[in-house]
Amino acid sequence: MPDTILALESSCDEYAAAVVQDGREVLASVVASQAELHARYGGVVPELAGREHLRSVAPVLETVLAEAGRDWDSIDGIAVTQGPGLGGSLLVGINAAKAAAWARGLPCIPVHHIEGHIYANWLAPSLDAYDGAPPPFPALCLVVSGGHTELLLMRDHGDFRRLGQTLDDAAGEAFDKVGRLLGLPFPGGPEIERAARDRTPADRLPRAWLPGTYDFSFSGLKTAVLHRVRALQEDGAAEGVADPGPLARAFQDSVVDVLSAKTARAAEEHEARSVIVAGGVAANGALRAALRERSPAPVRWPPPRLCTDNAAMIGGAAFYRRRTDPALAFDLFSTSGPGVFQAGTG
Ligand code: KG4
Ligand code: ZN
Repeated sequence: MPDTILALESSCDEYAAAVVQDGREVLASVVASQAELHARYGGVVPELAGREHLRSVAPVLETVLAEAGRDWDSIDGIAVTQGPGLGGSLLVGINAAKAAAWARGLPCIPVHHIEGHIYANWLAPSLDAYDGAPPPFPALCLVVSGGHTELLLMRDHGDFRRLGQTLDDAAGEAFDKVGRLLGLPFPGGPEIERAARDRTPADRLPRAWLPGTYDFSFSGLKTAVLHRVRALQEDGAAEGVADPGPLARAFQDSVVDVLSAKTARAAEEHEARSVIVAGGVAANGALRAALRERSPAPVRWPPPRLCTDNAAMIGGAAFYRRRTDPALAFDLFSTSGPGVFQAGTG
C-alpha cells in the first residue's frame, strides 16, 4: 500500500503544497512565492505574509492535487510544518492541514521545518545523482537558511543531535542584510553570489571562529561590511555602493570559510559517512565548492528548487517520522502540537 502524503509548508513567505509518495517520489510540488511582495520592503513583513498565505490556501491545494493526478481518496496522511517560523504564517498552514485532516479522517503529521530541509536530500530528484542511494549514516547536516544556521549529527532516521548553531544572525539573514547594505535587491543571497562571481575581494573581512564550539556568529561580519559601506558612501553615494562586487566577494568568502571549515571539522570528529547541506544558502555555489574541497566525507545537496522552502521536503520528513513514530499526529482540536524534533543540546 503506497504511503501518499499531502504536505503543506507555510513557515515564512512561501505557501507550498506537495504530494509525496513513500518519502521519495515527488508527484507534484507547488510553491506560491511572495518574494516580489516583500522585495518592496527589503525583507519579509510577517503580517503581510500571513494574509497572503490565506489567499493561497484553496488554489494551491487544488493545483497540487490536479498536477499530481490524485484525488483525496488516494491521500493517506497530511503533513504540515509545525515550526519554527512566523506565527501568523504557520497558523495558516496548520489550520488548513487540520481542517483537511478532520474532513477526510486522515492523520495530520507535524514536521519540524529544519527536519524537512534535511529530508530534501532523500527525495528522488536529490538521489538521482547517486543512483538512488540515500546518504549513509552517520550524516553530518549543515542547515543554512534565512532563519537557521545549525550543525546536526544524524545517526539514523529521527535521531538528530545538534552540535552547534548561530548565536545571532542566520547565514541567510546575514546575506540578506548585507545585500541590503550593498544596495542589492531582496533576497540578498543569490544577488551577492552573482555580484561576487569572478571578483577580487575588497579585503579580508573578520571570521568569528568561536574556538572549541560548533557555533557560529555573523553579526560582527555584518557590522564590518556596514563600516566599509559607510566609508565608500562618503564619496557621494547615498544608498548602497557603486560597485558591490568586491565587498560582496569579501563577505561571501568569510561566511563560506567559517561554514565549510566547521562542517569539515565536525564531520571528521564524528566520523560522518556523508555530509548533507540543506536550506536556501545550500544553493550557494561557493559554499558547495568549499565543502567539496574540505570535507572528509562525500558532500550532498538537493537541487536548488529543493534547497529553498518547499512542501515536498515536509512530505518526505513526515514519511520517515511516521515510520519511527506511527502514532505521531496533531490533536486536531488542540492549539498546541506534539514536540517532534529531538536535538540533543537544545
Ligand atoms: O530555506 P529558505 O528558502 O528559507 C528559510 O527557511 O529561511 O532560505 C532562504 C535564504 C535567504 O536568506 C536567501 O538569501 C538565501 O536563503 N539564499 C542564498 C542563495 N539562495 C538563497 N544565500 C546565498 N547564496 C545563494 N545562492
Ligand atoms: Zn526554510
